[in-house]
Amino acid sequence: MEEPILRAVSVTRAYHLGETIYAVHDVSLAIDRGEFVLVTGPSGSGKTTLLHLLAGLDRPMSGDVILDGTRYSRLSENGLAKLRREKIGFVFQFFNLIPHLTALENVVLPLRLAGMSPAQARERARSVLETVGLGHRINHLPGQLSGGEQQRVAVARALAPRPAVVLADEPTGNLDSNAGLALAGLFRKVNQEQGQTFVVVSHDPRLEEFADRVVVMGDGRIQDVRVRGGR
Ligand SMILES: Nc1ncnc2c1ncn2[C@@H]1O[C@H](COP(=O)(O)OP(=O)(O)O)[C@@H](O)[C@H]1O
Ligand SMILES: [Mg+2]
Repeated sequence: MEEPILRAVSVTRAYHLGETIYAVHDVSLAIDRGEFVLVTGPSGSGKTTLLHLLAGLDRPMSGDVILDGTRYSRLSENGLAKLRREKIGFVFQFFNLIPHLTALENVVLPLRLAGMSPAQARERARSVLETVGLGHRINHLPGQLSGGEQQRVAVARALAPRPAVVLADEPTGNLDSNAGLALAGLFRKVNQEQGQTFVVVSHDPRLEEFADRVVVMGDGRIQDVRVRGGR
């Protein structure tokens, strides 16, 4: 059996606010290469926290995450940032776009950091922005875009470097239902054509049809896993 590309091993992350809240409690999850996993569950169930742990954006209090054979616990913050740049595309729930850069420049940035030439990076960025339906907004600043448009810039930024793993937190949350379905369809197409691995957090049940596996979170734990056929 091939090693999973991404694996959480008994990760726990708690917050201490007077009482201790276990946002993610002893969760283990292995994601196969090329798999499309949907993570669902009610608000506050730990989905965002788990996704941040998988991305190395946050460190677990116990347990570990292994990406393509590399254990996060062995890496410095810089080493983790480098691994993330090379292998992960992350779509943040609240976009995290750089406000003084245009849509195009936001998408160009990770491509330049990956060593692509300015001309190539602009070409790729423009093309991915067109794919997400934003070809006519590339010179707008994030503050001049609607929430849905900013969300699509954030998606383009994550997809453009063609990372091995795409992690997306409620990537359709600000889109109307048709645009949301179209975006999920785009993820699935990229997943199938380029073999990139996707872990998508969403509570939209309509996205389940795009997934190989549905992981249901509740109270910081995995409550249920449903494997869907068709891979
Ligand atoms: N920075 C934080 N400080 C304190 N509590 C937090 C923080 N982030 C998340 N939590 C708590 O952890 C739990 C899980 O949150 P989260 O992972 O954001 O859930 P979801 O994404 O499923 O809505 C919630 O109870 C939330 O209030
Ligand atoms: Mg969340």
